Amino acid sequence: MRAITYDRFGSPDVLTLVTDAPQPEPAEGEVLVQVTHVGLNPLDHKIRDGSSRLASLVELPAGTGREMAGTVIGGGPDLDDYELGSRGLAPGTRVFGMRPPGDLRGTACEIIAIAADALSPVPTEVEAEDLPRWAGLALVGLTAIAAVDDAAEVSAGQTVLIHGGTGGVGQMLIPMALEAGAATVWATGRAANAERIRELGGEPIAYDEADWQQEIDRATGGRGVDVVLDTHYDSTFLPSLDHVAPGGRVVPLPTLADLTPARERGITAVIPEITVTRQRLDRLVIGLREGHYRLEVSQVLPLEQIARAHELLADGHTRGKIVLDLNA
Ligand SMILES: NC(=O)c1ccc[n+]([C@@H]2O[C@H](COP(=O)([O-])OP(=O)(O)OC[C@H]3O[C@@H](n4cnc5c(N)ncnc54)[C@H](OP(=O)(O)O)[C@@H]3O)[C@@H](O)[C@H]2O)c1
Repeated sequence: MRAITYDRFGSPDVLTLVTDAPQPEPAEGEVLVQVTHVGLNPLDHKIRDGSSRLASLVELPAGTGREMAGTVIGGGPDLDDYELGSRGLAPGTRVFGMRPPGDLRGTACEIIAIAADALSPVPTEVEAEDLPRWAGLALVGLTAIAAVDDAAEVSAGQTVLIHGGTGGVGQMLIPMALEAGAATVWATGRAANAERIRELGGEPIAYDEADWQQEIDRATGGRGVDVVLDTHYDSTFLPSLDHVAPGGRVVPLPTLADLTPARERGITAVIPEITVTRQRLDRLVIGLREGHYRLEVSQVLPLEQIARAHELLADGHTRGKIVLDLNA
């Protein structure tokens, strides 16, 4: 089968398409999935170039990709067709999901074995052309749940500032913060993305046209916000600490974020940790199906163009998601 592999950490050029990769055997509790689309995330290029903490756990040669959409084609020794059916995962069912944090096998290949609990069925009414969105949903959706519910504990009436409102995670953070009862959600982004932030329910602050610190000061009367959800981090984390209201929280997304400056100032700072459960995946299904979550796919590329996709990701200005189509 076709699969993307790499045998050393480095630039996108290390990514290689092989056509004779062995088909995986599903272990107990696992499902075999014929992959149609692969969602990409900044984590993919950080593991590939060796800069992610997870890279030290990767055994080379390795696969790449954390999430996907596809069709169930079988189950492990304990999951016959009856068992799969009882979980809504009968052979032929279209599914989406992501590898749990400790599972570093890739998803950018034609057939994967993956934990049944890390999958959820794609609703039957979803059109084939909408599948890329489902392939890109699990990682950013579960991250947003972990950020809004677990790390920030957003509650009714709070004010929220999101840095990077139209990135993959940002497009899920805005509606989830509102769903948690936030009174106002400001979101930074380039001016070109302001309209999209409005569509998602946020108040845009164009960081390339205005000073976002002045804007947030003006909007909050100098009080600051209750919660900062910071998907960018590099140039936004430290200045954000000046705009956190008393008792507020800051939640940087990158797992290597240094929380010390926040803690030294007595500001609660938490990096979200993804939990992959069927219950959380099913919440994403309801949100997407009912139109509350309107994750956007900005580019669909063929599997062969994965190196180009990683270059785009590393640029740091992805709008919504970049997805690979294995049948293109
Ligand atoms: N903790 C976890 O488990 C976890 C899970 C998922 C992701 N992450 C991390 O979270 C981060 C975001 O992931 P993602 O998938 O959302 O990335 P992404 O899709 O590449 O989005 C990046 C966002 O950053 C914005 N941005 C760039 N420069 C900015 C600036 N100076 N000020 C404000 N915003 C700026 C971009 O907006 P413009 O284009 O408008 O500039 C874009 O919206 C990554 O570092 C990723 O590794 C962590």
